[in-house]
Amino acid sequence: MIFIANWKMKMGLSATLELTRTLTRQLRQLPDGTEVVVCPSYLNLTSVFPLLKGSRLQLGAQDCFWEAQGAFTGEISPRDLQEQGCRFVILGHSERRLHLNETDEQIHRKVEAALASSLVPVLCIGENYEQRAGNQKDNVLIRQMQVALQGVALGADDRMIIAYEPVWAISTGGVGIEATPQEVQYAGEVIRHIVIDLFGKATLDQKVQIIYGGSVHSGNVRAFTSLPVISGVLVGGASLKADEFIQVIAAASGGGNQQ
Ligand code: 13P
Repeated sequence: MIFIANWKMKMGLSATLELTRTLTRQLRQLPDGTEVVVCPSYLNLTSVFPLLKGSRLQLGAQDCFWEAQGAFTGEISPRDLQEQGCRFVILGHSERRLHLNETDEQIHRKVEAALASSLVPVLCIGENYEQRAGNQKDNVLIRQMQVALQGVALGADDRMIIAYEPVWAISTGGVGIEATPQEVQYAGEVIRHIVIDLFGKATLDQKVQIIYGGSVHSGNVRAFTSLPVISGVLVGGASLKADEFIQVIAAASGGGNQQ
């Protein structure tokens, strides 16, 4: 099971370091097969990385550019991220699609670039409220994945994570509805079939994980992580408080409080 904390642009340096220190201290013992990834803002990555040494936490970035180097003022190279300690990179988050007009074609290039720099892409896909209301969910997932992943080759050491994050279920910017486990299982199955279509079943089994994100907290996480198709969660708001994020991890495996 993988737990990815997306800290977005929500914390300054000192809060980021304090949260990181608390998490490394309190998450020394994780069950085998449990991975925890923290994704601070770009500027805080290099301050967080030294604190993770010797801990079970891994580092991720929230985006990268589609070239590793060149005349691209202001952009962030996936190679630099890898050299600065990142193992994961979130790509195609709905907030970037919305505020920066990121397209599936650009996200495709970013996925290729991330893999070329030995990063694990965490590809975010998901329909918005209007698309859901118009019964377009399947079409949206198919289009986003086909464009982002068509022609992508996963090498022997590559790994990829697909995060189903319905825009309407995100705690900030959503419409205040939580996804039901049935909806997540359904979307997960759709995603699973598209991955099999694009890469084959063996690649799905060995290199691709499907996770869920959108208002995940300690009270609902187990309902998602117990779904056969889901191997982890992408957590926004609930990852900003150490106690709650630790509770999310505990509750996912059956411990902690459940509503
Ligand atoms: P929330 O968990 O705050 O809904 O955020 C989800 C998200 O956008 C994670 O990438």
